[in-house]
Amino acid sequence: MDGYKEFTIQIKNLCKIDLANYKEKQMKRRIESLIRRNGLSDYDSYLKLLITSNKHLKEFMDYITINVSEFFRNPSQWSVLEHDILPALVSKKKHLKIWSSACAAGEEPYSLALLLAKMGILDNTDIIATDIDIKALEHARSGSYPQKSVVNIPGQLLDKFFLKNNDTFTLKEEIKKKIDFKILNLLDDRFPQQCDLILCRNVMIYFTEEAKDKLYKKFHDALVDEGILFVGSTEQIIMPQKYGFFSIRSFFYQKGKAS
Ligand SMILES: C[S@@+](CC[C@H](N)C(=O)[O-])C[C@H]1O[C@@H](n2cnc3c(N)ncnc32)[C@H](O)[C@@H]1O
Repeated sequence: MDGYKEFTIQIKNLCKIDLANYKEKQMKRRIESLIRRNGLSDYDSYLKLLITSNKHLKEFMDYITINVSEFFRNPSQWSVLEHDILPALVSKKKHLKIWSSACAAGEEPYSLALLLAKMGILDNTDIIATDIDIKALEHARSGSYPQKSVVNIPGQLLDKFFLKNNDTFTLKEEIKKKIDFKILNLLDDRFPQQCDLILCRNVMIYFTEEAKDKLYKKFHDALVDEGILFVGSTEQIIMPQKYGFFSIRSFFYQKGKAS
């Protein structure tokens, strides 16, 4: 389908998402399938629909942001976080600041909060969780998940920190209140600063190399010296030294000390 370039310019004006930073082939495939699903056959008429209908604009945002997530996604990496990374961080500092930077419907920051509660260090931690998708954030704030979403959560944590109502599991207030959910566009907005740990998992895969390059630099700046960046399982950084990072375990990068 023609007209993608013009569409990206108009979308940037309409909802501040710069599609030029997302891999073109993948994004085109997704949007074109959405265009067809709406009974249309070109970008121009789809754009007109988005301009006139909030409902369709929301559907578009929802579809292109891809909110798939899981509690304790890639469990072996969470085990490294629990047994190596977090103990090393708390041995150096009493109070930690952690940022889950593409938090989807909250599965990732809540996994983190549950882990910190288990380790007895939740009260000494500030957790910020951000995403570009307002609908995902609304879900995250509710803290409610169907049974199929909570299968990866260890039974003890599920019993202790969730309220069960039929097939719905809702996090208790003591966990929910620990997370500050906010809207943030990684490609456009200012990052939280002085973070000890940043999780940026399963979102970089959608971005172009140029966008990734900028983001690694911004993540580096957002961390304290020796702070850690935790990435997704297909998102290892090629040449981390280029950005001032050292690989300390697979999927974990440490910011070097300023000399
Ligand atoms: C596949 S989910 C990953 C969720 C979680 N980090 C995980 O690993 O399971 C990708 C998330 O990135 C968000 N996202 C996409 N583009 C973004 C952007 N420019 N800024 C912030 N979040 C973005 C989407 O809304 C979505 O919730």
